[in-house]
Amino acid sequence: MYVYLNNRTIPSGEARVSVFDHGFLYGDGIYETMRVYDGVVFMFDEHIERLHRSASLIHLDLPKDSAAIKMAVYDTLKANYLTNAYVRVTVSRGHGPIGLDPALCKEPTFVVIATDFKDYPRSFYDEGIKLMIVSVRRNIREALNPQIKSLNFLNNILAKIETKQTDSYEALMLNSEGYLAEGAISNIFFVRDKVLCTPSIECGILDGITRGLVLAIAARSGVTVEEGDFAPEDLYLATEVFVTNTTMEVMPVSRVDAAHFDVGEITKLLMANYRHEVKAYVREKKGESPSLWQ
Ligand code: PDD
Repeated sequence: MYVYLNNRTIPSGEARVSVFDHGFLYGDGIYETMRVYDGVVFMFDEHIERLHRSASLIHLDLPKDSAAIKMAVYDTLKANYLTNAYVRVTVSRGHGPIGLDPALCKEPTFVVIATDFKDYPRSFYDEGIKLMIVSVRRNIREALNPQIKSLNFLNNILAKIETKQTDSYEALMLNSEGYLAEGAISNIFFVRDKVLCTPSIECGILDGITRGLVLAIAARSGVTVEEGDFAPEDLYLATEVFVTNTTMEVMPVSRVDAAHFDVGEITKLLMANYRHEVKAYVREKKGESPSLWQ
């Protein structure tokens, strides 16, 4: 397996990052997760744009421009002969002496990891996954804005740990005010009285790229959408629930705590339309993406 480190692809066993890297010492850095379908990186521009935004929010100068980041991703895919893949771009503050001042680090560390995409079990889409509302609350925006896709992931990891002794697949966090926020790695949606509801960005969540696309698809498909503050009880009384992220796409939820849900019509419609969207995107971008295997 090859990874991209700073300026080149190298065998993963030879890739070394310093113990003085501030990403390691302080979680000081950012990342993006992308999915590649048939050699095309889905929503590539949107992910690169969010990487730039995360960088700007932590006052980090990215070591590459958008075109160079894209080339690094393609080089990594090519080196590993991947066409359907999971891609993670990580940028840390870089190595420097102990101390919080970002100026101690002269050069960010830039890494691309790409692996074969492993499909989720079919039952996850046919029947849905189980969620639990955990006691860990989502970071408050004023402390660490969840819109920064940061390497400092302990908030989400602590939420995930709470699910470990249960059969829940994803942890759902409330915000500090007790309203629904988001999953450890996903955004949450539910249907109530045929209206598609989802916490607003102001609830303190990541503005998921999949979330944005699902909202656009819903609007185009004639589904009424409401973004706002929702209580756990709103979710328990829903008729349909699903989560979204780049790798899961639209994934139905069969249970939240003691409340059960079937995979409903709106969820099915959005799952199908999302996949159509992916196919159309891949068709459109195929010509623009470098042929990976020449
Ligand atoms: N996670 N909320 C959180 C906290 C996330 O970590 C993610 C994505 C999302 C959904 O974002 P998007 O639709 O842009 O993937 C929401 C990715 C998959 C990860 O951590 O690898």
